[in-house]
Amino acid sequence: MKCRKCGSKAHVNMRQHKLALCKEHYLEWVPEQTERFIKKYQMFTHEEKILVAVSGGKDSLSLWDILVRLGYQADGMYIGLGINGGIHYSDESHRLTEEFAQRHGLKLHVVDIEKEYGQPIPVLAEMTHRGQGKPCSVCGLAKRHEMNRIARDLGYDVLATGHNLDDEAAVLFGNTLTWASEYLLRQGPVLPENEGLARKVKPLCRFYEREMTAYAIARGIEYIYDECPYAEGSQSIYYKELLNQLETTRPGAKLTFYLSFLEARKSGNLFIEKNVEQAHMHPCSKCGQLTSAPGLCSFCRMMEKVNAAVE
Ligand code: AMP
Ligand code: FES
Ligand code: ZN
Ligand code: ZN
Repeated sequence: MKCRKCGSKAHVNMRQHKLALCKEHYLEWVPEQTERFIKKYQMFTHEEKILVAVSGGKDSLSLWDILVRLGYQADGMYIGLGINGGIHYSDESHRLTEEFAQRHGLKLHVVDIEKEYGQPIPVLAEMTHRGQGKPCSVCGLAKRHEMNRIARDLGYDVLATGHNLDDEAAVLFGNTLTWASEYLLRQGPVLPENEGLARKVKPLCRFYEREMTAYAIARGIEYIYDECPYAEGSQSIYYKELLNQLETTRPGAKLTFYLSFLEARKSGNLFIEKNVEQAHMHPCSKCGQLTSAPGLCSFCRMMEKVNAAVE
């Protein structure tokens, strides 16, 4: 595989885009694309103050890196969850986040749940009996709450998270399985500001997870490889695996799934009952069946061609 731009050895091959790039050109392409998405979805401007929620993972650290490279005013926020059994997940992700901020001379706000509220996430979860023995729902709730609180108290215009296409497609898939319309109507790259809550944006929502891994590696960003230990066996991981199987046989399926959803909603075609039968239909001039094509229906048109070929 060769880089499309310069012909040297490719670092990344993106089958879904039919595009291969060398390391140098890939490191240019990712911020260019991100800038396009920021403008397309009107996420924020260079005048606005952005708070990036950084978990120490590849997506959020790469997002921070990209926004700074693009010249945006982006500070970071790390939330210490106190998840440290076994692999010291929280300590390690905190360390990597601090290191990244220091190396690039960036401002990082740190909120520690235990210091702020008396107990770490796993204990809060046990005390409240939410989420069937797993702390994930308590954790999600606390993260959302703290992100909103810090953004508001410190006067940020925008809150940016590192959700990638794999994350968004898995959430969409889950919501579609139950037709959770209230969620489907809200899911997207931008959630507008509302009653003192900062606007929320996901600038990486069109990048595949493997594209973000390739970016972090090419940029030499040190990130935490492990997932949260509680994520194992979760529904979202299962949906990601399913979508990856689909993607293997149909490159681009994940992106199309997400983008067609955004398109359908934007054009108002989602959840709006229309009388499909009657819309712009008239009888075919040959067989009389209703058709949306002028004159002959598609079947009669096809048969005309068949007959013409026979003659
Ligand atoms: P997750 O829910 O773990 O997939 O993370 C989604 C996004 O939430 C990440 O890309 C980050 O932007 C943000 N995030 C997750 N965990 C933290 C954390 N401990 N501190 C700050 N932001 C986080
Ligand atoms: Fe919150 Fe796993 S429970 S990151
Ligand atoms: Zn190149
Ligand atoms: Zn017909």
